[in-house]
Order: sequence, then structure tokens, then C-alpha cells
Amino acid sequence: MRSFVTALALIALPAAADTPLDMPHLDIIPRTAAERERIAAVIAEANDTATGDTVHRFERMSAGATTSEAAANGDAFSHPSANLSFEERGDFFIGNGLFRRLWATAPASTIASDGLGPLYNARSCQRCHLKDGRGHPPENTDDLTTSMLVKIGVVGLDADPALLDAIEDYVGASAHPVYGGQLQDRSIAGVPPEYKLGITYEPFEVTLNGEEPAILRRPTYEVGSPAYGPLGDNWAISPRIAPQMIGLGLLEAIAVEDILALTDPDDADGDGVSGRAQVVWSDEFDRALLGRFGLKAGDPTLREQAADAFSNDIGISSPILPNDHGDCTAEQAECLAAPGGGSPEQDGTEVAQNALDLVTFYSANLAVPVRRDEGDAAVLRGRAVFHEAGCAACHNPTFVTHRLQDGGPQSFQLIWPYTDMLLHDMGPDLADGLPEGRASGQEWRTPPLWGVGLTQTVSGHTYFLHDGRARSLTEAILWHGGEAETARTNVQEMTPDTRADLIRFLESL
Ligand code: HEC
Ligand code: HEC
Repeated sequence: MRSFVTALALIALPAAADTPLDMPHLDIIPRTAAERERIAAVIAEANDTATGDTVHRFERMSAGATTSEAAANGDAFSHPSANLSFEERGDFFIGNGLFRRLWATAPASTIASDGLGPLYNARSCQRCHLKDGRGHPPENTDDLTTSMLVKIGVVGLDADPALLDAIEDYVGASAHPVYGGQLQDRSIAGVPPEYKLGITYEPFEVTLNGEEPAILRRPTYEVGSPAYGPLGDNWAISPRIAPQMIGLGLLEAIAVEDILALTDPDDADGDGVSGRAQVVWSDEFDRALLGRFGLKAGDPTLREQAADAFSNDIGISSPILPNDHGDCTAEQAECLAAPGGGSPEQDGTEVAQNALDLVTFYSANLAVPVRRDEGDAAVLRGRAVFHEAGCAACHNPTFVTHRLQDGGPQSFQLIWPYTDMLLHDMGPDLADGLPEGRASGQEWRTPPLWGVGLTQTVSGHTYFLHDGRARSLTEAILWHGGEAETARTNVQEMTPDTRADLIRFLESL
């Protein structure tokens, strides 16, 4: 990657409003040249503390004025942005109700909450984003998945020419002709569920300087009991656990120009880390946009991500994805014949525009918790190690969000998400083999690290990475390969004390 500051200095950036991939739904106030300079200076100052021993003056509040200072307990990810108005807090709590709503089979007496399935993975958003935190793989091999889902596709089919035309370097897989774009292991009565996920784990050792080797577990996945016939050829699957829900509105308000400034697709600076922007087709705006959400950044906006989840995960139609039958394909007759739950009171779909907007508002405003122990000597040493080991090349510490016309909660905040929002090749060991948009089967979006230190407190477990294979922060790091190989080797080779400092830093986020 290129350093943020250098990139800003080297490139004559277009005004935000002219950036072709920018967010059409945000009312952005274009930056002036003077503002750009101020932002670059603030970012430079924030990163300058990398090797120093003092806390940056804004570092404690990871998400600026939205940061929650509520107690670091099991509800730590469920608080609204701290700077919401009274009215906005009302919307947040209505959105929370919709996020928790258990959908029922249509037709039901309550038309507002029917339309489940026919095929689905869970009956509510909250069932996967447990306590607004991350999901986990099934604990027992006999269990259905509860907060994990599996995408499926066929690699090598001719892609839609419109997509190839609109998106440079498009490599996405096509939906499976029988099973669609996602595998559902639940269904309403009379419709067979598609499959049952099988997982086996194989232990293997990774050496660590000065310590016993770490024992990691390598997952193997099986599409068990496929109910609609054999899968055929060239299919690939991508098992993913639900990510934590905090700080998402801020990630949506990061300027496209700032994300693009971090890309280095040909690794021009020779640091082994490239970083490519995801570009995806927006169903809402009917054009290509920068991809931001999802583990391969396959969705451009929070609203589309929510519409996607309603359709594929729960089987609920919305004005953006209006098909009542969700992910059913033409080969799934019982699924297509099942009654839908759309009604005129709800814009003809199973969830109305207004409800979709409230869930989106909720998703945008789950607050990032305040840092803990950020001034502790070990944490500050660990922060320096994080930079020296090369972690910050992808887990980019800071951004300043766009200034928004409505001056809303996400407007013009200095934030510390520790992500560059870009795709990176993480090597064959983490590959799922299922391309998405411009992302290859080996690429993933750098996940934000804010809040990772509270995973045990909120979720009662420490399963990390896209499929929860890592059982601790250390294991998560030791799985890093590809562009992150040097960073991983650095961690393997450091002394146990230095490694402990690095982990203390991550735990303070
Ligand atoms: C079956 C489990 C499941 C359900 C139900 C579910 N999600 Fe998710 N959610 C996921 C997974 C897995 C991802 C990652 C998706 C990807 O990589 O494309 C995700 C991603 C997201 C993201 C993007 C987060 C990020 O960091 O990029 C948002 C926002 C989100 N979900 C909101 C919702 C909403 C709103 C609902 C209910 C309408 C919902 N989800 C229902 C599993 C679920
Ligand atoms: C080349 C880019 C890159 C570098 C360098 C890098 N990471 Fe990552 N990191 C990623 C990506 C991408 C993932 C997600 C991989 C996946 O889910 O399979 C990730 C995942 C993680 C996770 C798990 C997060 C979660 O929510 O599950 C942790 C913790 C982490 N990285 C810490 C580090 C540390 C510490 C370093 C430095 C030693 C580092 N990373 C270096 C790109 C990088």
C-alpha cells in the first residue's frame, strides 16, 4: 500500500462529487483544498504516535463523537451512536425491533412480519448478528448453522455482459443454476431445505520463536444431503460467519478518494502489500459503485446489504430485491409455489421501504465502544509493534469521514477502524475459491479491528476470520498469508513478550 499522506500529496484528486464511484445516497459537502490539507495533517499526526509512548489526543474515542462510553459488558456493541438526536434515538430503537423481529411463514395474521423463506438461514437478523456481535461456526457437527451462512456459485460460466462492461476486471462467479447464490439449511413446511453443512477440523502446528508451537485447526466443508440433486461441476462455496455490526455508518461515510488513495494494485512501492478496490453492481442505483460491506466488500451500501440479507438469509422481499421467493431458482418447484407475504400496505413487498430504511439506520448507528487501557505501557508497546510488523499496511488506523449536508452523526469524524476497506490476497490457506465482483477466490476485505478486544465479553467466544476457524487473536494472525505473509512471519519470529504486547494492543481496541 502507499502511505495515506504520500498518496494525498502525490495525486491531484478530483473533487469528491466528481468521483465516479461515490455514494449517490449521501449528501456530501465536497472538500476544499484547505480541508484536504488539514485532514492529511491530522492523519499524519495520528500515525506519528505509532512508535511513540503517548496516547494520541483523539485515540481513546475510536469512532469520534459517535463512540459509546457505556460499560464494557455483554451489551457493549448494542448502544446507539452517542451523538444521535432524541428523534434519531427513537428511529434507532424501532430499527432494533425490526432487527430482532422473528419472521413467520405467510400467510400469517400479522402481515407485517410474514413472508419467511421459503428457503432461509435464520428467522431474524439478530439470530446471526448475536448481540450485534459476530457469529460462530456450529459448536457440534450435528447442529445446523446458526450464525454462519454458505454462499455458492459456479466458476467459469460466461458472466453477464452488462457486468463485464460496467466493472473492469470483473471475475465474479455465477449463481448456481439449481441452488442459487446461497445455500439455505432451513425452509418452511412443504419445501425441502437445501442441504446440511458438514465441517471437520484437522489440527496442524505453526512454529513460534521462544514458545511451544501454536496448534491451528484447518476446516474442510462438505455440502451434505443436497436435496435438489447433485451440485455438478465447477462449483465453489464460501462459508462465512456474521461479522460484528459496530461503526458501519462511519465506514459508509469514508470518502471514496481516501480509499482509492490506499490502493496499490501493482505494488508499486514494493512492500509486498497491494490492495485493490472492490467495485460492484448496485441494484438500488443501477450503476457500478465502490464495494464496502460484506467479507469481500460485495455490497456498496448498508441499505443494499440489508436488502440482500432480507432476501438471501431470511427470504424476505424488499423494494430493492422485490422477489418474494428469495433465493429459489427455476429448478425448485415447491419453493416457487409457496405463497409470498407481500401486501399493498408494504409497497407490495414483504418488508416496506420505510422498514428497510429503519433497519439500515439501526445498522449504521451501532456505536463503537471507547478504548480500554489505551495508555497502558504494554498496549503502547503493542501499538508500535503493530506498525513495525506491517499490520497497518492493511489495517489502516485512521480516516476522517466526509462532511455531510445534514450534519448527521457520521459527518466529519476522525475514526480509528484499522481497515483500508480494500481487497487483499491472503494466500491459498484462507482462500474459499469463490470469486465475487472483482475479488478472486483468495481475496478478502481487510476487516475493521475496532471492538475485537470485546469479542469474548460480547459473544462469549473468540472465533475470528471469515469462517471462525481461528480460536484466538494469535491464531487469526498466524493464518495470514499471501500479501500478509511477511507480517505473519514477523509475528512468528518476535519474542514471546513482544507478541504478548501486540495482543494486549488488539485487546484494547
Ligand atoms: C444467516 C445469518 C445472517 C442473517 C440472518 C443476517 N446476516 Fe448480516 N451478515 C451475515 C454474514 C455471513 C455477513 C457477511 C456477508 C458477506 O460476506 O457477503 C453479513 C454481513 C452484514 C453486514 C455488513 C457488515 C460488514 O462489516 O460489512 C450488515 C450491515 C448486515 N449483515 C446486516 C444484516 C441485517 C440488517 C440483517 C437482517 C435483515 C442481517 N444482516 C441478517 C450473516 C447474517
Ligand atoms: C495484506 C493485508 C493484511 C495485513 C498485512 C494484515 N492483515 Fe489482518 N487481516 C487481513 C484480512 C484480509 C483479514 C480477513 C481474513 C479472513 O477473514 O480470512 C484479516 C484478519 C485479521 C484479524 C481477524 C479479524 C476478524 O474480525 O476476524 C486480526 C485480529 C488481524 N487480521 C490482525 C492482524 C495483525 C495483528 C497484523 C500484523 C501482524 C495483520 N492483521 C496484518 C489483512 C491483513
